[in-house]
Amino acid sequence: MTTLASSPLQSGRAPLREIASGFDVEKVRADFPILHQQAHGHPLVYLDNAATSQKPKAVIDAIVRYYENYNANIHRGVHYLSERATAEYEAARKSVQAFLHAARPAEIIFVRGATEAINLVAQTYGRVHVGAGDEVLITAMEHHSNIVPWQMLCEEKRAKLRVAPINDAGELIPKEFEKLLGPRTKIVAVVHVSNALGTVNPIATIVEMAHARDIPVLVDGAQAAPRMPVNVQDLDCDFYTFSGHKTYGPTGIGVLYGKLPLLEAMPPYQGGGEMISSVSFEKTVFNKVPHKFEAGTPDISGPIGLRAALEYLDRLGMDNIARYEHELLSYATEKVSAIPGVRLIGTAKEKAGVLSFVMDGVHPHDIGTILDQEGIAIRTGHHCAQPVMTRFGLDATARASFGLYNTKEEIDALVSGLQKVREVFG
Ligand SMILES: Cc1ncc(COP(=O)(O)O)c(C=O)c1O
Repeated sequence: MTTLASSPLQSGRAPLREIASGFDVEKVRADFPILHQQAHGHPLVYLDNAATSQKPKAVIDAIVRYYENYNANIHRGVHYLSERATAEYEAARKSVQAFLHAARPAEIIFVRGATEAINLVAQTYGRVHVGAGDEVLITAMEHHSNIVPWQMLCEEKRAKLRVAPINDAGELIPKEFEKLLGPRTKIVAVVHVSNALGTVNPIATIVEMAHARDIPVLVDGAQAAPRMPVNVQDLDCDFYTFSGHKTYGPTGIGVLYGKLPLLEAMPPYQGGGEMISSVSFEKTVFNKVPHKFEAGTPDISGPIGLRAALEYLDRLGMDNIARYEHELLSYATEKVSAIPGVRLIGTAKEKAGVLSFVMDGVHPHDIGTILDQEGIAIRTGHHCAQPVMTRFGLDATARASFGLYNTKEEIDALVSGLQKVREVFG
C-alpha cells in the first residue's frame, strides 16, 4: 500500500482511529488520493459509495502501467505486447474467479457492468427459455437494471413479470416469495444487497426454493461484491453480476458469472470479432465460453484495473471490510435516527452499508444541497429504484452509503450537517 503524507481529515477534524480490529482505516485512506482534498472549503466526506466508489492508487497505477508499457489488442497478435496484454487480461479473469470463488475462469465473462450482465442473460438465456404465458420472478426492491431488461423480455415474449413483495422494514417475505414460484416461472432475478434500502437478501434460501422447482437464479451483486465475501458455489446461484466501479475498480468494466453448462448452452449476445471460431457467408461457428460472449475488442485496461482492485480488497480481507462497514452502519444508524424528524427507510435485520432516510418537511434534494456546502457527498433521489420509493409512499430519499475508507468522524460530520439542515428548515 502507498502512504500519503497528510490528509485534511487528519489535520481538520477529530483524529482518525482504528475502530475495527485488524483494519487500519488511516492507512487505508492514505491509499486513496482523491479523498485528500477540500470541497467548498471543508474536508471532503465521500458518502456516495453505492453510486460509485473511489479508486486506490494501486488501481490507477495498474491502468497507467498498461497504457505506458504493454497496450496492444488481445487474443489476436503474435507479438510481444499483444501476448503480454492477453496474459494480463486472462490473469484478471482468474482474479475475478478467485474473488467470487467460481469453479473455473471460463465462468467469468467481462461486460460493461451489472446492467450489461443482466441484459446479456435476459437477451440470451431469457429469449430461449421464456415464452408466451411464462413468468419471470423479481422482487419489489430491485434496481431498475434488474427490472427493465426483464420487462422488455416479457413484453417481447408476452410473458409475465411477477414481483415478490417486501415488508415495512424492506425485507423480502420468504413465504410470499415461495408462493410466486410456479410451473411457469422460468427464471428468478434478485438483488443481493438493495442499493436503496441496504437490505441483505437470504440468497442461499432463495436459490434453494427456486432450485427445488428447477428454476435458475440470477443474483444482482452490484452492492454486495464491494461489501462482503461472495462465494457463488456456496450460494449455488446460476448467474451473479457486479460492476467494477462500485468495487473500487474502474468504470466501464463488470462481470457476469454463470455456471458453465448454462453459458455453453446459451446463444451469443453480440456478433463480431473474437466471439467466433470460423466465419463464412454460409455459416459461423462460435468461439468457446467465455469468448463467445466477448465480441469485438473488449475493454482491456478495465479488467487489469479491476484485478488490482480485487487484489487490494483481498489484502484487506473481505471479512474485515464487512465487519468494519457494519460498525460504521450501526454507528450511523444510531446517530442519524436520533435526529428529530428523521425517519430511516429500510430497517431490515440484515443490512449492509447503506442508510436511506427522510426528514420531516425537508425535501431530500435540499438535504443533499446543504450537506454538499459542508463538503459532504450523499445521494438524493429515487436511486434508480422507483418501485421501492412507491412501496414506501415516497418519491425520493437521502442516502448515505459507506465504503472501506469512511470513518466514524465522517459520520459525526454527517450528523452535524443534518442538524444544520434541521436548523435551516426550522
Ligand atoms: C443494486 C444495483 N444493481 C445494479 C446496478 C447497476 O450498476 P451499473 O450501473 O454499474 O451497471 C446498481 C447501480 O447503482 C445497483 O445499485
